[in-house]
Amino acid sequence: MPEPVIAQRSPYAVNVEAGKTYAWCACGRSAAQPFCDGSHKGTGLAPKLFKAGQSGPVYFCGCKHSKTGATCDGSHQTMPPAPTLTPEEQMKRFEKELKDNDWGHQPC
Ligand code: FES
Repeated sequence: MPEPVIAQRSPYAVNVEAGKTYAWCACGRSAAQPFCDGSHKGTGLAPKLFKAGQSGPVYFCGCKHSKTGATCDGSHQTMPPAPTLTPEEQMKRFEKELKDNDWGHQPC
């Protein structure tokens, strides 16, 4: 199973509308977090649909490792801290990811 990217190490609080369905980003690559923007194409991951039962705040998973799916289960609290990279290391990692992955960035 492909590994998702950790979008952030905390949940996204979003006010949802009852009856509306939301496409939660499971891959972590969307620029429209916590929702899918199609960036998962080619990763082997796909968004998960979340239907709001009631209007109000929902805490969507930001670390992409929640065992409950789209909503936060606290998994981010047990993750190791984010690695600290120099700007040069960050650029090398970014260039390698671009080279290794053709994500397509096409809409769903
Ligand atoms: S699941 Fe992440 S962009 Fe679609």
